[in-house]
Amino acid sequence: MELTHFSFDTDDGVALVLLDRAGESMNTIGPEIYEDLTAVIDRIESDPSIKAVVLGSAKPGSFLAGADIRFLETLTDPAEAAAAIRVLHALFARIEALHTVHGKPVVMAIDGACLGGGLELALTGSMRIATGSSKTQLGQPEVQLGVLPAGGGTQRLPRLVGIAAALDMILTGRSLRPYRAHKIGLVDEIVPHEVLYDVARRRALDAIGHLDDSEGSGVKEFLAPTHLQELALEQNPVGRRVLFRRAEEAMLAKTKGLYPAPKRALEAVKIGIDDGPEAGYEAEAEFFGELVTSPESKALRSIFFASRMMKHASGIAGFGEPKPVAKVGVLGGGLMGAGITSVSVLRAGATVRVKEVDEPGVQRVLAHVSKNVASQVKRRRLRPFEGEQAMNKLTGTTDWSGFANADLVIEAVFESLDLKQALLAEVEAVTAEGTVFASNTSSLPISEIAANATRPEAVLGMHYFSPVEKMPLLEVIVTEDTADWATVTAVAFGKRQGKTVIVVKDGPGFYTTRILVPYMNEAFHVLADGASVEDIDSAMTAWGFPVGPVLLSDEVGIDVGAHISQVMLHAFGERMAGPEMAARLVDDDRMGRKNGRGFYRYDDKGKRGGVDETVYQALGIGPRRVIPESEIQQRISLAMVNEAARCLEEGILQSALDGDIGAVMGLGFPPFRGGPFWWVDHVGIAEIVDRLDALTERHGMRFEPAEILRTHAESRQTFR
Ligand code: NAI
Repeated sequence: MELTHFSFDTDDGVALVLLDRAGESMNTIGPEIYEDLTAVIDRIESDPSIKAVVLGSAKPGSFLAGADIRFLETLTDPAEAAAAIRVLHALFARIEALHTVHGKPVVMAIDGACLGGGLELALTGSMRIATGSSKTQLGQPEVQLGVLPAGGGTQRLPRLVGIAAALDMILTGRSLRPYRAHKIGLVDEIVPHEVLYDVARRRALDAIGHLDDSEGSGVKEFLAPTHLQELALEQNPVGRRVLFRRAEEAMLAKTKGLYPAPKRALEAVKIGIDDGPEAGYEAEAEFFGELVTSPESKALRSIFFASRMMKHASGIAGFGEPKPVAKVGVLGGGLMGAGITSVSVLRAGATVRVKEVDEPGVQRVLAHVSKNVASQVKRRRLRPFEGEQAMNKLTGTTDWSGFANADLVIEAVFESLDLKQALLAEVEAVTAEGTVFASNTSSLPISEIAANATRPEAVLGMHYFSPVEKMPLLEVIVTEDTADWATVTAVAFGKRQGKTVIVVKDGPGFYTTRILVPYMNEAFHVLADGASVEDIDSAMTAWGFPVGPVLLSDEVGIDVGAHISQVMLHAFGERMAGPEMAARLVDDDRMGRKNGRGFYRYDDKGKRGGVDETVYQALGIGPRRVIPESEIQQRISLAMVNEAARCLEEGILQSALDGDIGAVMGLGFPPFRGGPFWWVDHVGIAEIVDRLDALTERHGMRFEPAEILRTHAESRQTFR
């Protein structure tokens, strides 16, 4: 970090230090921080005319976003990594000591991202003032990268905000908006960004007794660190034990013990509380060394790095500039259409016109978006007038009025080829040349939807995932005829909606649906072979998927799954054949959660209970037997991974990286495994081929390894 700004005003004794990493749009921590901060601290410590410090950032909207992940990649030796952390600890301790030892209060002035090491730096200060800007967020996201907060975060944060609030932040990696941060005592004051430095300076002056007016009275007392400590620490040892146990249980329930980072983070907090901060800092250093070099962290970092790269990349290399998208038409406001409308208005800021079949349909979409707006206003993510502005951008219709000037039309009507083709023809008739038509189909080839198009160059797929507001992936699907300008326009708009976008070639199921089908099919094969529903689902969640495949089938809809499966069987033949189960279930009126009958039981309110034991009878399959967990995991995961390899081989995927991002962000492939390709590389491609060969022998040709796996194994290449 090059600290180019270090201004000091002798008149009032307050030094202003502004972080400003040279050549970067964001402040992040790289190795230079050590030298630069040391120089600044030396100066503050030794200059008697400096009485107090305001520390902020010269980059608006970015205080300090944490470690530069490129820096993490250079740490390959646990002992060296731990040593680097000890140096950072010493540095941060010196900043803290500016007040506690040298009597020079440090006021942290925070605008924008204050994350990871950034928050840990802020925690060393005497007080924190933050702007209420929507860009301001404070958090310890380290566990998401498979490491723990190691710049003192596991020690100072619990002492400031209490153990429970700190564990919530540290173990989930969730970041807080300014108002929430203020509520838990992480931030002392929230101010408009225009006056951030004025207020910070006033507080600093007040803290050193240079301000006579009464406005700041009490601040001095507030700045005393002992007072802060008393404020936050849960005092009762019995209460603390319960608290730690609960946090651990919640964490293990979520991570299934597959993620070492939150486990270690929790341990570091506990050591600090039980044995004191010195022991806590040492635990941080040691655990960091261990975690940063672990395969889990490397895999998580690869995903994070790639998705960030994709988010910031301006488009697709060599594809030219996207067309501006100001107005969007959405066809169908059901589950998906309503979500797409919502992110188009609220995230992308577009004007949206939704078409539904009838007035109640229109009202449902408007109500959906209005509910989202209200919740964002309540959580102060939007100001009330911004909420109103957003709603003003949204209109609904049951005819084609207001579609003529749409830049992009996204259809999310029922999964019917005829319907989609008919709507495309109507859109072409009412819109001008240059309007992109995107289908959110989950399985129909885009080229078939575009078969009769008059402007096939403007037709592509924009495949969203449910729930649209939450799921981070968008799969853009291009046909042979799709023009580059249309592709980049869709990609750019997807990014505005907050999505990580992969571009794939058209084909049945594209990428994500195509690899999901063999995964689900194999789960049903295992079921047919005698495993119980519980065993299958728990085996796959233990492997790291967020929900098991059988439950997923209930969630997606058994009829929907069966329909997609048929499309895939038709396209790819035997390899995609599942056991004949779905038809029987649909005949037995089992559609899954939506009609309250599926593999699991649902009560009147739709709440899920255990497995519905009558399902085996409905399926006509006999008594259950135990199939070892590892066998279940291997069959189901390899079915998906093998198909992913085929997608790369056939050019459906542009790269293995896209395949990893798509599987992790779209389908919940375990992030700590880095995606199908990263995982195959990690296990060893030859080993994967051997496992597939063995499965082929036992279960048939559907496990025949993709050619690309064999050739890579033979030439000892890796995918990533
Ligand atoms: P849905 O049944 O909830 O919504 C479809 C909506 O389209 C209904 O509100 C219906 O009134 C409306 N509609 C039908 N014909 C119309 C027309 N001519 N003009 C205007 N609106 C019309 O279905 P859902 O789940 O939203 O799916 C929509 C599409 O998205 C399908 O192609 C589906 O395959 C795809 N998809 C679904 C996913 C899911 O998880 N449900 C995930 C990804 C894609």
